[in-house]
Amino acid sequence: MPEVHETDFIIVGAGVAGLRAAIGLASDRARVLVVTKEALAESNTWYAQGGIAVALSGDEDVALHLDDTVNAGDGLVNREAARVLVEEGPLRVDELLRWGTDFDREGGRLMLTREGAHSRNRILHAHGDATGAEIARSLLRHARAIPHITLLEWTTTVSLDLHDGAVTGVTLVDREGRITHARARAVLLASGGAGQVYSDTTNPAVTTGDGIAMAWSAGAEISDMEFYQFHPTALSLPGVQRFLLSEALRGEGAWLRNSCGERFMERYHPLLELAPRDIVARAITREGMGPAGEQLPVFLDMRHVTKIDLVARFPGISRFLAEHGLQLRRDLIPVRPAAHYLMGGIRTDVSGRTSLPRLYAAGEAACTGVHGANRLASNSLLEGLVFGARAAEVMRDESPLPQLPPPEAPQPSPTQDHFAVLRQRIERVMWEKAGLLRDAEGLRAAQAELAEIGRAIPVTLDRAGIEVRNLHTCGDLIVAAALAREESRGAHFRNDFPRRDDARFPKHSVQRRDSIAFENF
Ligand code: SIN
Repeated sequence: MPEVHETDFIIVGAGVAGLRAAIGLASDRARVLVVTKEALAESNTWYAQGGIAVALSGDEDVALHLDDTVNAGDGLVNREAARVLVEEGPLRVDELLRWGTDFDREGGRLMLTREGAHSRNRILHAHGDATGAEIARSLLRHARAIPHITLLEWTTTVSLDLHDGAVTGVTLVDREGRITHARARAVLLASGGAGQVYSDTTNPAVTTGDGIAMAWSAGAEISDMEFYQFHPTALSLPGVQRFLLSEALRGEGAWLRNSCGERFMERYHPLLELAPRDIVARAITREGMGPAGEQLPVFLDMRHVTKIDLVARFPGISRFLAEHGLQLRRDLIPVRPAAHYLMGGIRTDVSGRTSLPRLYAAGEAACTGVHGANRLASNSLLEGLVFGARAAEVMRDESPLPQLPPPEAPQPSPTQDHFAVLRQRIERVMWEKAGLLRDAEGLRAAQAELAEIGRAIPVTLDRAGIEVRNLHTCGDLIVAAALAREESRGAHFRNDFPRRDDARFPKHSVQRRDSIAFENF
């Protein structure tokens, strides 16, 4: 019989949302268990380069941040969630400053930069292009000083434990294959997105949609999975990982050029290189398509930007480029889009409540509708902070669990070793058929291939197998929602329905067991 650990709260994921929630929950001496499947420094948060958007100069600034968030979201932003984000954002950032987060300053004043679709400079950054890492470091330092928080690394969450329809804890497996259960009066899924569902992604290998897939298997509602944001500018060099080239580069003046050397964004949007992310990503894709379907290079050009020291402003990016013989101030940098951020996820209200009792979600794993169909640049770290803190506030009110029978032990099939092949098949079919440009024929083909792959995935306690199963579930959810949304909006573009259709689809997709509906929230 596996061991059962009793605690007050369980948080799956140790990125910005999970850590901020842990700090909130532990403030009244509750015991909090934070579980992460790798080292603490391996969440998507650590890779966030550009910054954190926040309106620090009063009401007018907050109202403009709200407008920009709503406009970028292409008619689908949940206004209440966006209002909460921009209004509570400054409080959460003040808190970070008090906790020692070292944002970049000039003459003692916080430096603010700009990114796509922002109407003013409101993006804080740290150590140039290492904003996520600095925020995560300061949250971790704070969390480590609180004795009621237990940080459990290298432990994979297999599934949610249920009793009478309520979530009562999680099943865990450690690196040695030991299974345990943890029980708590509430569980928060803050396990990030699912970038690894695509072959080309800016996300680290750990982003396998674990929380979303577990919530779905437990019966929770999932929303807006058709909206996967593709970052326009990932480094595009053969054999090199799709390294993120922050939107802040364009914020500091970078241009985009096609293979003829032409600056092309004026044909796509009046904001040029600082247009909303979905528009820039599709423009790059189109400019990079040769007449016979061959791929043409598209470049980021910063050679004309002489007003700042590019190496000092972008040290991490400069270092990575230098390893590949490139310099921002000297070279054209080849780029193309890559999967970056999932607007959809586990449907929650603005306090992180899901459709299942005692289950909460926050950050990229959740879908409050705050980003609508397309997230405004640098709103995601803020989202993690604001909604992580809010989830903690309401989770506290959950009553203690009643006496429960022992949880059921999982029954795995013998481990198989073909998970890497299955994972590659999922990534490839998703990129080719359910990526930036979609149509019904491709999506149906993806659905058929995913069904075949699904039959080959065994019940397993092997981490690689669990991740493949989770990616498969997320792929299925993305494809089903993309097929159902017969229009183009934000990050979701259908070649066969190229226009936004406000008569049929001004709503969020909601997937439940055997149905998909479009609803307001
Ligand atoms: C970037 O630095 O371009 C990424 C920021 C974001 O995804 O908001």
